[in-house]
Amino acid sequence: MTQTPTEIEKHQYDVVIVGAGGSGLRAAIAAHEAGAKVAVLCKSLLGKAHTVMAEGGAAAALGNLWPEDSWQVHFRDTMRGGKMLNNWRMAQLHAQEAPERVLELEDWGALFDRTKDGLISQRDFGGHRYARLAHVGDRTGLEMIRTLQQRTVQLGIDVFMEFTVTDLMKSGDAISGAFGYWRETGSFVAFEAPAIVLATGGIGKSFKVTSNSWEYTGDGHAMALRAGAKLINMEFVQFHPTGMVWPPSVKGLLVTESVRGDGGILKNSDGKRFMFDYIPEFFKAETADSEEEADGWYDDKKNNRRPPELLPRDEVARAINSEIKAGRGSEHGGVYLDIASRRTPEFIRKRLPSMYHQFKELADVDITVEPMEIGPTCHYVMGGVEVQPDSEMSGVPGLYAIGECSGGMHGSNRLGGNSLSDLLVFGKRAGDAAASYVAGLGGARASLSDADLAAAEELALAPFAGSGAGTENPYTVQHDLQQTMNDLVGIIRIREELERSLAEIEKLKERSKHLVVSGDRQYNPGWHLAIDLRNMLLVSECIAKAALEREESRGGHTREDHPGFDDRWGTLNIALSLNAAGDGVELATQPLPVMPDDLAAFFEEDH
Ligand code: FUM
Repeated sequence: MTQTPTEIEKHQYDVVIVGAGGSGLRAAIAAHEAGAKVAVLCKSLLGKAHTVMAEGGAAAALGNLWPEDSWQVHFRDTMRGGKMLNNWRMAQLHAQEAPERVLELEDWGALFDRTKDGLISQRDFGGHRYARLAHVGDRTGLEMIRTLQQRTVQLGIDVFMEFTVTDLMKSGDAISGAFGYWRETGSFVAFEAPAIVLATGGIGKSFKVTSNSWEYTGDGHAMALRAGAKLINMEFVQFHPTGMVWPPSVKGLLVTESVRGDGGILKNSDGKRFMFDYIPEFFKAETADSEEEADGWYDDKKNNRRPPELLPRDEVARAINSEIKAGRGSEHGGVYLDIASRRTPEFIRKRLPSMYHQFKELADVDITVEPMEIGPTCHYVMGGVEVQPDSEMSGVPGLYAIGECSGGMHGSNRLGGNSLSDLLVFGKRAGDAAASYVAGLGGARASLSDADLAAAEELALAPFAGSGAGTENPYTVQHDLQQTMNDLVGIIRIREELERSLAEIEKLKERSKHLVVSGDRQYNPGWHLAIDLRNMLLVSECIAKAALEREESRGGHTREDHPGFDDRWGTLNIALSLNAAGDGVELATQPLPVMPDDLAAFFEEDH
């Protein structure tokens, strides 16, 4: 059943991109245009990426509706949304470069919705002072992927679909390649490449209720750790306030924030518009505290403050969670999101076509006449590989991380719409930097060691070897992990539960040594899951450990036993690395990079 290393299919590239979502494709285009020989490795089919779940738009201070908007205001909103824990330099680059990246996408054929004057239309989202999201109805991520995919194919970049990378290869301290398998045949492939860009997306499948699909098992996060890179901010997990709650088969599926951006309101089972009860001190000055002012904002944004439904996601998700826990939830355990009583059916069908069809087809609900039932769903992890802000290179020479797989840009909470622009800005930067790193090597490249390839192969095949002694079904272990993370490391956390979660994860790690899979290597989803579980368990441990360590509440991390900010934590990141035994993670705190005075001035009161 094993292949000897000499039989393994081998390829040589300058830059290998692992992941074909928005950031991966943008990086591939940049590296190719900079002259590198590039391959994109894609766990599923090209075009099927979590990027499409960023439905509402790409945030960029184009100033099309609000000439007052600028990169400085966008930077400030992003930092405040992240509760000041963001890497300031990443937030600055993002705000400065997002407009150019969006316009470039348009040049490549993306068909954005227009204003009456023919400019790119921009929509409101939580935490953004001005309407700033360039959008295509409620299908923006899809249009972005379509555009990038088309350009990738047009440029002749090699794409390996239905291909999973299991491990990174190193020579000395530096990256030398990647090892993986074709999902269809189960046969192994080695890529020799001095630069690898991780663009693998998030970790949502560690949780029971998530907007993420099966691919998002923290592969890039875990492989980077195993290669010697550090992860930061892993305690911060974004629960998008609005996922479907009914029927059970689609629980967690995203309901775009655009519904609230376009006027939708949240109500509990008493019919009360409850968000007015949950306006935090931090956002009081900019949030309407009466229905009259909130509703007036849609007509007169200059003289009214924003509706509380457009607070950042962490605030809205916590509020919904509290209403449900207080027994004021909807029939199926959510709350109500109502746009039907606020906008005409024509408006709803034009601005939110996907939502209209999603609810009609999946839940038999007509959102132009009835409210939706929604509840929080695990959507995004703010934590990821620590990278240099300008190049996206990790602490391992030749290893880059972008998009959801990287950490720092969004601090403790990402503003909706900032992920699509993040993918474009840092995808391009990483592609450029990786190509120039390889050029700087002057043709020198390390070959892959046979011993390393054999070890990677043995590890991948271990679940088959367990057939005799193995007792654990990968699906049962995955189910138990998801339940643990949901129950003990969810929206509201507390010491005892976090400690219990870590004990449970240890037990699951032990159980995972006894996984058994049947059948052979030809398309075998049980075996694939057994391989993914190694990553899921490692990132889950990172999340739980960091959540236990941070004794405060900030952004996507709420501690019932430590409510509110603690200033001591406001200047610290938690960094995680693989322990010496290689079987778990260890943690350290480190100071955040200090923001220069000219940027710090944006946070003074008169700005
Ligand atoms: O709600 C949404 O459309 C999601 C957007 C995002 O995550 O940026």
